[in-house]
Amino acid sequence: MASTKSSSPIGKAETRTEMRSLISIADLTNDEIEEIFSLADAVQRLRSERPANGQIMATLFYEPSTRTRLSFESAMQRLGGSVISCSDMKSSSVAKGETLADTAKVVSAYADVLVVRHNWDGAVQAMAEHADVPVINAGDGGHEHPTQTLCDLYTLRQEKGALKGLTVVVCGDLKNGRTIHSLVFALARFGANVVTLAANGMELPQYVLERLEREYDYALAPMASDDLSAVMTETDALYLTPKQPHQLALFTQVDEVIQARLNSLATGLRYDAFYMTRKQKERMKDGAADASYPTIGPEFLREQRFQDTVVMHPLPRVDELSPELDRDWRGIYFKQAAYGVPVRMALLKFLFDRREAKAAAPINKAPAYKSPEKLGPQCHNPNCVTLKEPVSTDKRFELFTVGENGTLILGCAYCDHRFKVQFVGDVKSKRYCSYDHSLAGQIDGWLEKKQLAIFNSIKEAEELGYEPIKSGPQRALMNDVEIASALAEMSRQILRDCRDPDRLLILGVRSVGSQLAQRIAAEIENQRKRKIELGEIEIYGSGDEIKRLAPADPDAAPLSLKDREVILVDDVVHTGRTVKSALSIIFRSGRPQSVRLAVLIDRGHREVPVKPNYVGKNIPSSEKDRVRVKLRGLEQEEKDQVVIFSVIGPADAVKSPSAGGEKKAARS
Ligand code: NCD
Repeated sequence: MASTKSSSPIGKAETRTEMRSLISIADLTNDEIEEIFSLADAVQRLRSERPANGQIMATLFYEPSTRTRLSFESAMQRLGGSVISCSDMKSSSVAKGETLADTAKVVSAYADVLVVRHNWDGAVQAMAEHADVPVINAGDGGHEHPTQTLCDLYTLRQEKGALKGLTVVVCGDLKNGRTIHSLVFALARFGANVVTLAANGMELPQYVLERLEREYDYALAPMASDDLSAVMTETDALYLTPKQPHQLALFTQVDEVIQARLNSLATGLRYDAFYMTRKQKERMKDGAADASYPTIGPEFLREQRFQDTVVMHPLPRVDELSPELDRDWRGIYFKQAAYGVPVRMALLKFLFDRREAKAAAPINKAPAYKSPEKLGPQCHNPNCVTLKEPVSTDKRFELFTVGENGTLILGCAYCDHRFKVQFVGDVKSKRYCSYDHSLAGQIDGWLEKKQLAIFNSIKEAEELGYEPIKSGPQRALMNDVEIASALAEMSRQILRDCRDPDRLLILGVRSVGSQLAQRIAAEIENQRKRKIELGEIEIYGSGDEIKRLAPADPDAAPLSLKDREVILVDDVVHTGRTVKSALSIIFRSGRPQSVRLAVLIDRGHREVPVKPNYVGKNIPSSEKDRVRVKLRGLEQEEKDQVVIFSVIGPADAVKSPSAGGEKKAARS
């Protein structure tokens, strides 16, 4: 991740040199971190040598900051360099809609290093891919904050000597606290033990736990926690009863002895540090922000067994630390903040010395995956930069299997979130199937040949013209006459229910849905003798999601949804997920008066509560069956028809690719 090179669809600069950035704590090896610490130890020498003389650092903070920004700026000036900054990113070109990619490119020409904080996960990685100078992540959404971790580790090392073997309790909002995520990876790498003490519902995210397990060989062990419940107080007694599942510890090796100790001992572990964090309200939905939260109170100071336990906090604190701690030597959070300057001086010097050097190879990284198709898998994290600003990103993933069942997992290269692969396909033969671990060998082959397509849904595969890897014989369910009369009836009903036909907007889901939408609109126009506005909604693409449907008047204004009576048209409602995505695009794009749903076929296997208002035909067949609407013109069909067929399991299909109703096989 640390070496960056522009490979995005926009502004691709093939000849750029790779550059050393710091996006994740994983971008630094342990030796490099030690080297930075040695530089920080010699801060006086750095101050007199002024190694950044003539260099400029730009700070781009899209989120509030005091410590990180000021300590970076102070560090740069103490190194002899200077600083340029936007006092408020909201008053920069961002307000005019400038992309991260453009900002990164432009500011690269003004500065020798960029320090960026952003509220989207992965945003700093995206900027680094477009910048021509090193970029430092000063916090990206709820993802990582690697320079805070350098300060934290340095503080621990100053206080405790070595990091190996320490036991650090991380407390509070472990879910949204980016400082925590970088910190636990680093502690794991240096061989420290981590005890997690999360506020209720704010446990370490799954992707962090999985990464700890896969990349650092750490395992989770439940622990008895009476000794912690004695010192942590909370507004209501929601958590911290012994053996709650969120009281977990991460140990380098969970051998039987440790396990037995953990299970049986209420006390006995030596805690070297408590690392407390603030509730990250700005990353929470309304209700969650009011949930109760632990605090470290004065009891902590009186407990004999915590007499050597230091209390850390990345700051700002709200009310999770008792003021009594400020007056006790164990409250070291202000010292921790002060180390921000020498550590960031050391980091800047370290990066300047390696401007053109590649980063060390990341630890245990899985192979990278990029979809060979235009539509490809999307990250499931709604705060990921790949969803917030697709144009500045390059949708890359790590691909690996986990567990005994060999579940196939994609990990987003920007925000690290992981999700399960549901459908895979072969680009060459244009066949797809649901993923099954018996396909692992096959998948490796496809991946190697860059032929592996991954889809979020069957619908997406079908949109790209993929056929099931193997299917049973097709049986016709509706012919062209039946389809035409169903559409005519639906059109009549739509017009009947419509309060103001001038406000009607027919929106088809691309691509079969939009064909049907055109036919419905034509029917209505026929009945009303007036033009009806017609649009198309693209669920899986990036960029323009709702557009007028051709042939549109080139001078026509963009479609407005405000106060419209929208009829969303799709061919088949199976699980309802596509419709749900379409609805969220609609509500994101404007405020219609109403949205009603028209589908030719309703399968009724609904996973989401969407109920069509107008249905051509109900076909509640089994889950394994696929119903497809084939329209003349679209799939070289001569006549419209609706067919049903069964999809045969991928394992059988791969073993005997040429058997059965389909001739074309996955192996081509
Ligand atoms: C942290 C941050 O911004 O993530 N602050 C910091 O950089 N020292 C912690 C926080 O805001 O709670």
